[in-house]
Amino acid sequence: MKAVVCKKYGPPEVLQLSELPKPVPKDNEVVVKNFASAVTGSDVLIRSANLPLIIGLMFRVVIGFTKPRKPILGLIFAGEIESVGKYVKRYKKGDQVYGFNGSSFGAYAGFLCVSENETKESCLVIKPADMSYEEAAAVAYGGVLAPYYLEKGNIQKGQKVLIYGASGAFGTTSVQLAKNLGAEVTGVCSTRNVELVKSLGADRVIDYKKEDFTGSQERYDFILDAVPHGKIDKKNLKTLCKKVLSPNGKFASINEGSPKVKAEYLIQLNTLFEKGDFKAVIDRKYPIEQIAEAHKYVDTGRKKGNVVITVEHP
Ligand SMILES: NC(=O)c1ccc[n+]([C@@H]2O[C@H](COP(=O)([O-])OP(=O)(O)OC[C@H]3O[C@@H](n4cnc5c(N)ncnc54)[C@H](OP(=O)(O)O)[C@@H]3O)[C@@H](O)[C@H]2O)c1
Repeated sequence: MKAVVCKKYGPPEVLQLSELPKPVPKDNEVVVKNFASAVTGSDVLIRSANLPLIIGLMFRVVIGFTKPRKPILGLIFAGEIESVGKYVKRYKKGDQVYGFNGSSFGAYAGFLCVSENETKESCLVIKPADMSYEEAAAVAYGGVLAPYYLEKGNIQKGQKVLIYGASGAFGTTSVQLAKNLGAEVTGVCSTRNVELVKSLGADRVIDYKKEDFTGSQERYDFILDAVPHGKIDKKNLKTLCKKVLSPNGKFASINEGSPKVKAEYLIQLNTLFEKGDFKAVIDRKYPIEQIAEAHKYVDTGRKKGNVVITVEHP
């Protein structure tokens, strides 16, 4: 099968397309014939291992010292079940599924093994018939992570919610989910993404290049910081956000806490998608053969929503 192998940490060119044998499932795993993946913020971080010293050391203990112990990266998959392990009960050959494979990775390949059961870092669900594999790959990352942070806001109908970093994978998901919870949503992004965030249903969009939301008279019941680590001074942001929170207002950041992945999040998102209340945001698509190009683009930090990888099978 086609597979992208990462033999050392480094720039996008460390990702090499190879031919490898198909993986063999454990008794509780399914083999997914993969049609689409995504290049996420987490993927580029794992590939580059570009982290501050202490966090970088902890990362290498878990993922691998000089190279990833699991050389096929890729967290997100969308495909058809090819075969199942002998104890698998809920899935069968031919089921169309998608999900998040956590630290097992393996989704930059034609086939991968996924545990039937949800773990704290992986899950798979049946894909709705009217969601394409590419759309499924574009909703999975934000779809498993954003709900965990939105739950911290305990958002009630009519509450004012601000999403900072509204045009990214987390942000585009969070804007749509907060709208579906009945909130009045303000999105914050740069000039070129204002129209995109409006199109996702945001009631108001603030262009951070023109206006500082922390200086406004508006008060918010919940602020979610969805800007990746390293782009802004996070400590300072938290302090500044307190000024624009209502008396019982809450703040959460995607860089705090360890999200627990739940299949339930994707199942709820599937229902919204089927009702037309949630859309996949795809910025660019690349065939798996151009994975290094896709990583280069995500490395720019300027992607909108999601970058999808497509896998053709002979
Ligand atoms: N806690 C965890 O366990 C966990 C797990 C996975 C991921 N994460 C975090 O999630 C990140 C990936 O998120 P993502 O995929 O949604 O990122 P993304 O798609 O790259 O989105 C980035 C967002 O931040 C905005 N932004 C970029 N630079 C900015 C700046 N200087 N000031 C204000 N806004 C700025 C972008 O808006 P414009 O482009 O319009 O500027 C965009 O809305 C990772 O990098 C990691 O930090 C955390």
